[in-house]
Amino acid sequence: MSASTATPVTRLADYRAPEFLIEKTHLTFELHEGYTDVSSRLTIVRNPKNTKTNDLALHGEQLELHSLAIDERSLDSGDYQLTPQNLTIYNVPERFVLHCSVRIYPEKNTALEGLYCSSGMYCTQCEAEGFRKITYYLDRPDVMSEFETVIIAREGAFSTMLSNGNCLSDTVHDGKRVVHWHDPFKKPSYLFALVADNLACLEDHFTTQSGRDVLLQIYTEAKDREKCHFAMQSLKRAMRWDEETYGREYDLDRFMIVAVDDFNMGAMENKGLNIFNTSCVLAHPASTTDAAFQRVEGVIAHEYFHNWSGNRVTCRDWFQLSLKEGLTVYRDSEFSADMNSRAVKRIEDVNLLRSVQFVEDAGPMAHPVRPDSYMEISNFYTVTIYEKGAEVVRMLANILGPKLYRLATDLYFSRFDGQAVTCDDFVQCMEEISGRDLSQFRLWYSQAGTPELHISDHYDADRQQYSLTLRQHVPATPGQTEKKLMHIPVKMALYGNQGTLNLVIDGQNKGTEIVLDICQEQQTIVFEQVVEQPVPSLLRSFSAPVRVFYDYQLDQLQKLILLDSDGFCRWDAMQSLMRIVLSKAIDGKGYQAEQTVLIKVLRQLLADYAAMDAALLAYMLDLPNEPYLASLYEKANPVTISRVRTQLQHELATQLQTELLNCYQSLQSSAIGLSAQAMAARSLRNRTLAYLLQIDDARYRGLAQQQFSQAENMTDQFAALRALVHAEHAHTEAQTALQSFYQQWQHESLVVNMWFQVQASRPWGDVLQEVRRLLQHEAFDARNPNKLRAVIAAFANQNFTRFHDSSGNAYQFLAEQIAGIDQRNPQIASRLLTPLTHWHRFVDKHACLMRKALESLSQHELSKDVYEVVSKSLNKAH
Ligand code: PHE
Ligand code: ZN
Repeated sequence: MSASTATPVTRLADYRAPEFLIEKTHLTFELHEGYTDVSSRLTIVRNPKNTKTNDLALHGEQLELHSLAIDERSLDSGDYQLTPQNLTIYNVPERFVLHCSVRIYPEKNTALEGLYCSSGMYCTQCEAEGFRKITYYLDRPDVMSEFETVIIAREGAFSTMLSNGNCLSDTVHDGKRVVHWHDPFKKPSYLFALVADNLACLEDHFTTQSGRDVLLQIYTEAKDREKCHFAMQSLKRAMRWDEETYGREYDLDRFMIVAVDDFNMGAMENKGLNIFNTSCVLAHPASTTDAAFQRVEGVIAHEYFHNWSGNRVTCRDWFQLSLKEGLTVYRDSEFSADMNSRAVKRIEDVNLLRSVQFVEDAGPMAHPVRPDSYMEISNFYTVTIYEKGAEVVRMLANILGPKLYRLATDLYFSRFDGQAVTCDDFVQCMEEISGRDLSQFRLWYSQAGTPELHISDHYDADRQQYSLTLRQHVPATPGQTEKKLMHIPVKMALYGNQGTLNLVIDGQNKGTEIVLDICQEQQTIVFEQVVEQPVPSLLRSFSAPVRVFYDYQLDQLQKLILLDSDGFCRWDAMQSLMRIVLSKAIDGKGYQAEQTVLIKVLRQLLADYAAMDAALLAYMLDLPNEPYLASLYEKANPVTISRVRTQLQHELATQLQTELLNCYQSLQSSAIGLSAQAMAARSLRNRTLAYLLQIDDARYRGLAQQQFSQAENMTDQFAALRALVHAEHAHTEAQTALQSFYQQWQHESLVVNMWFQVQASRPWGDVLQEVRRLLQHEAFDARNPNKLRAVIAAFANQNFTRFHDSSGNAYQFLAEQIAGIDQRNPQIASRLLTPLTHWHRFVDKHACLMRKALESLSQHELSKDVYEVVSKSLNKAH
């Protein structure tokens, strides 16, 4: 597969504390056109806790070593050894200053890791192991150091020259500008950042709870400055929320955000100097959809929250990645729930978990929240680490309750401030504060796979007893065939004809909602004084990241859809009802009765749409997505799944036309501005429009065209465009709209991405050919990750129907693209691979074609990143 790269595996079990520590890090960057010289002065001491060797092994990759000295003594080639990954210096003293200078080439850095150039901007990305591409260092998170950085450039070259912390001086000597930064907080190298460019800046101030003034700055290209106001407001809301909710105050005098076009991920929490993908900062109603606004708010908060959960308290090693990511995602998701609709935020999170994380957990890359091993750490920035990790923290927060959870996080932040720690340290704080034994709960960190809960019930009318039996099962995952029993918190309620019932267990009244701690293989709970056959409302607010199997009757689901007081449960019951209809159709069984119930309940909701949260109703109209449906099968047939889902969509549109149209028209003028209410109205209205466009009727196409041309915000304009492009019979209208959209927005790169994405995700026609054409488009740029995501990832991940076309051509296409991208940007290449890795979950015909594409990719010279994913996918026994 890759003859040249030996791909060693890094294991948690092999963790050793560092042999040396770096007390102070002094860096000087001289930026020249075409190259950058980096000189470092590192104050190094032996780690008193670990002294086995006299040799210092530093990390370093793709560096041109120019000079090396210890204290004032220059080293010669006999004093050290250089390999492509390391610099080992023999026989170093107890304590010394290492002077080193290297040359690097940011202009040629297409991997976007280390110091690189993005349309004229110099910027860095060091997480996880990018700092070693800047200079020789102990590039591991448990080596925390105080950083001073000097940036030198030709006078006039850059107006913006930034690094972490406070600016000590900014002077000009001999035609050179010299800017000196100092970060007083110790940090690992992955949090280092540097930026140089000519940028505009939006400024504001925040007064912390203790009365300190913090300067807030968002740097962007001048043309985008006015698109930063929303991000600034979000930042201030996040700062306030973290003070109020976690007692966390900002610690520097200045907080900076820089927006960059070319970025592999969403954003990065570098201390005092966050670097953001433009897509996660810039927002303006004319050019940004509501969904993108919410993402900006969420990501701004996420990176800001890392200042405590990640930076002040960081990870000991990369196996502990979820310590900072799981906790920070939980924090940002609670923030978003507080700012917007809690039920809707929960639905979005659960949807992502079910359709992406559960799928990952059932595939060859399945790994625990705290993995045991990896070849390439960049491959482990996954939905399991982030989203499942957040669910694990959420369960802990729920087990402790708000008061104890807050005490436990206070303890965590104070005990480990300035340290690099483990997931276990975090759980330990929860245990100490609550006095609970969480040893079984800890399996959530070490055991991969999605637990299943098989639930059955029995009502004994004579005794007025209702019993629930819950049996747990964790499916095997690669490398973990034997699973232990988990601790699964199941929040539940019982519904009777008049609403929730009191839950009486062993003669004790427990109220109307309880949490069952399922810890054994099988548990039966008996509820007493139950006077009528109840409907169980299970796993309320999704109290654990598990799959629930319970055989709901149609009338039970109907009841929950209409009555459940938990918005999430209403949506979930609707998903179950839709899933029943779809599964029957997919399995070739009769589904008329089920479909009739579905239509009836949808009709009821739509007719009385004003009575409920419009955003919730919008989500309730969505059919379960294809990846989720596919995940319900041992071997899924993607063609059948797509066909059946499209048919049901069409059927619902046809039957509910009147209600949909009425809802669409009544909501017409109510949606102005960015309030939660206005956003909710838009989302419901645009859902109804998309449904109506399923029907071949010129009137509906006319509505979409009208909305497209009259829209005053991007949400409405784009929703109309999407409805037209995705409707098979609206081809002519769609072409016109696409042209005018491009005409109007060609100078807004982020909007052009949406224009690419809507075409690549079109669920009908020869999209592969369209995608090839888009790759040749003047606005496409294969070096820009957002463009690759907008075309290639949109096609592979958001177009189940056309990607799984039975010719298999799309699979082959993806493999070819990845081989090319891998030469430039391995991280992005590796991420694009995900859809092919699930080959074993599809019927043979598709599985073979997907496997063949993987095999053809394996013929290339591959990066460590892609190699790890391809080899794990192909080794998967079936
Ligand atoms: N640490 C970043 C975050 O989640 C993600 C990231 C990882 C960004 C690696 C870049 C590289 O906030
Ligand atoms: Zn993060």
